[in-house]
Amino acid sequence: MRKNDLEKQNEYYSKRASEYEQIYFRDNKERRKEIDNEVVRLKSLAQDKSIIELACGTGYWTTRVSETASQIIASDYSNDMLEEAQKKTYHCPVQFLQADLHEPPFEKASCDLLLLGFWFSHEPCQDYEKLFETLLSLLKPNGKIWMIDNNPPAEGDAYQTTGQDKYGNNYKQRFLDDKTEYSILKNYFREESLRKILEPYFEIESLVHQKYYWSVVLTAK
Ligand SMILES: C[S@@+](CC[C@H](N)C(=O)[O-])C[C@H]1O[C@@H](n2cnc3c(N)ncnc32)[C@H](O)[C@@H]1O
Repeated sequence: MRKNDLEKQNEYYSKRASEYEQIYFRDNKERRKEIDNEVVRLKSLAQDKSIIELACGTGYWTTRVSETASQIIASDYSNDMLEEAQKKTYHCPVQFLQADLHEPPFEKASCDLLLLGFWFSHEPCQDYEKLFETLLSLLKPNGKIWMIDNNPPAEGDAYQTTGQDKYGNNYKQRFLDDKTEYSILKNYFREESLRKILEPYFEIESLVHQKYYWSVVLTAK
């Protein structure tokens, strides 16, 4: 991602830090159930694992996996997000770190499980290969990667697209509670297109495609 875009996006997430978790508590029981189901799957996957989490945000997933993991290093680019995350309670040792997920300052081959929640939709498609190499480099042998993200919304207003760039990345209008407007890169995937993107780089251990969210568990090929 270009430096200007990264700074703009960081500004958006930093300003949104205190209101970010609203996405998890929308008044929609089906959405809530899908997230709760994922928490159960993830906690089981994380059992006794040494975890690196990139773009951890407010620590929504961090606090939940801390109930089963052995240790976690959770990182995010935004200090405001990290500040929110540090207000939570954790059940295993958790170290927080400010870091760009594209240049993670971690030892190679140092985790059993790598978490990347609600980030992949924001990754520019021209950078997938580089991102995948970075993620794989952090895994111990037999290590796994877990990702979750949004499915395409129903056609209509929810798309709020502000256009596409020359690579085909979609941009979407986003508003903070104070109505400040941002245009944020947000790509959506149908199951087949997601498989096509991932299969050249990973074994797909599981791909759960629900109504609102998809999640994957990946291993090295
Ligand atoms: C949609 S939020 C996801 C937060 C969290 N993973 C979750 O699932 O709730 C995206 C997060 O990515 C962080 N972020 C944006 N660019 C980043 C970068 N280059 N490196 C690390 N984190 C970044 C933002 O600060 C924000 O916390």
